[in-house]
Amino acid sequence: MTLYQFPKDFLWGAATAAYQIEGAWDEDGKGPSIWDTFTHQPYRILNGDTGDIACDHYHHMPEDVALMKAMGLPAYRFSINWPRVLPEGTGRVEPRGLDFYDRLVDELLKAGIKPMATLNHWDLPQALQDKGGWVNRDSADWFADYAGVLFEALGDRVSYWTTHNEPFVVAFMGYAQGTLAPGVASYTDGFQAAHHLNLAHGRAVQRYRAMGLDGRIGIVLNLSTFTPKTDDPADIAAAQRSEDSVNNIFLDPILKGRYPANLMNWIGEMQPDIREGDLAVINEPIDYLGINYYFGNIVSFGPHGLLKSQSEPDLDAGWGLTGKGWGISPSKLTQLLVHLKDDYDNPAMFITENGTALGEPADAEGYVDDQGRINYLRSHFIAAHRALSQGANLKGYFVWSLMDNFEWAEGYALRFGLVHVDFADPARRRTPKASAAWFQDVVENNAVCG
Ligand code: FCB
Repeated sequence: MTLYQFPKDFLWGAATAAYQIEGAWDEDGKGPSIWDTFTHQPYRILNGDTGDIACDHYHHMPEDVALMKAMGLPAYRFSINWPRVLPEGTGRVEPRGLDFYDRLVDELLKAGIKPMATLNHWDLPQALQDKGGWVNRDSADWFADYAGVLFEALGDRVSYWTTHNEPFVVAFMGYAQGTLAPGVASYTDGFQAAHHLNLAHGRAVQRYRAMGLDGRIGIVLNLSTFTPKTDDPADIAAAQRSEDSVNNIFLDPILKGRYPANLMNWIGEMQPDIREGDLAVINEPIDYLGINYYFGNIVSFGPHGLLKSQSEPDLDAGWGLTGKGWGISPSKLTQLLVHLKDDYDNPAMFITENGTALGEPADAEGYVDDQGRINYLRSHFIAAHRALSQGANLKGYFVWSLMDNFEWAEGYALRFGLVHVDFADPARRRTPKASAAWFQDVVENNAVCG
């Protein structure tokens, strides 16, 4: 047994996202988001599930913060539902919506919990999608103005801001493949959306700097590893295209001020319209990089699809697949963090999401003895510690998720929470799982044993 001690000011926490937990989808003047539209269409979501009620966090917020306090959480990462605050996406502010987040932040601070607020965890106002959404270049201004409203209202109390969560998923699953909202299937739109998401990020960071606030601002990317299956040059090139299209299309412009040339050449006419000065805006310095890590990939050349690459799960010895079909590979987390240290000038980094859904059942009381989740988290915490020992500038770690919630296209079929939620119960009873107590212990000792 080894004790892995984390640095003194290492920030531990848990994460959620507005659409996945809040419910109250049309209350208190809230406008519809693309996720409300999408989930209300047939055959979009497993079992026809929606986030209309979800965990009903909107009505349970104070008790949820009390639960976090009882769990000993030092920090909480949540997101703001854009059309709850700006029902039409621009212009008019809905005071009841803004007030909800104002109360949440106060409640967290009263409980001694540091808030990390994400501005875009995918729920774009439908009114803006009607104008083209992220494919419309104006989206960068819409987003910066929305960000400004939130900075103004909460900037005195929120210490960490995140512009987007996983712009890859928005651009490529939302616009290129259309498997998630808004359900557009056009790669040309996908690449244009990716560029506008980057531009919107940069404009929001500039807005934050201009306001002279003293918190920190960054972005959250879903990053992965892409290992060629063989040393065949075709596999190596396919792995590079995959890495460029998931990681580097965001990392490179944001941290290096350029797009990956290799990918841009490959996509040819699908290249987005990038105007003079855009890259300087996108390259505006950030205070930290948030990383959502779930899995690694083994990539080979494949005859199908735009990128002509195919991925299979990259498994560490002794590990299998999660309920989502993702391969478990803690060692790739170490590899990823060390790569960011070596090739991106070692930015301040947080793991902003990591966790798993393994289908562990609840007993009659709603209790889940989720030893599988504990093993998963332990191995990933140790993997993060290994990266720290190799000099990676990792500042904290947020588990996905605080509680079971609406898992996008999989609806309620996958449970990622440290806390079990009974979705059959109108009161949405919450019951901390075994992993919640285990995590509390890790946080208290600032160390993990393994
Ligand atoms: C990430 C999302 C998050 C959650 C996890 C499982 O891609 O950011 O909302 O659904 O996956």
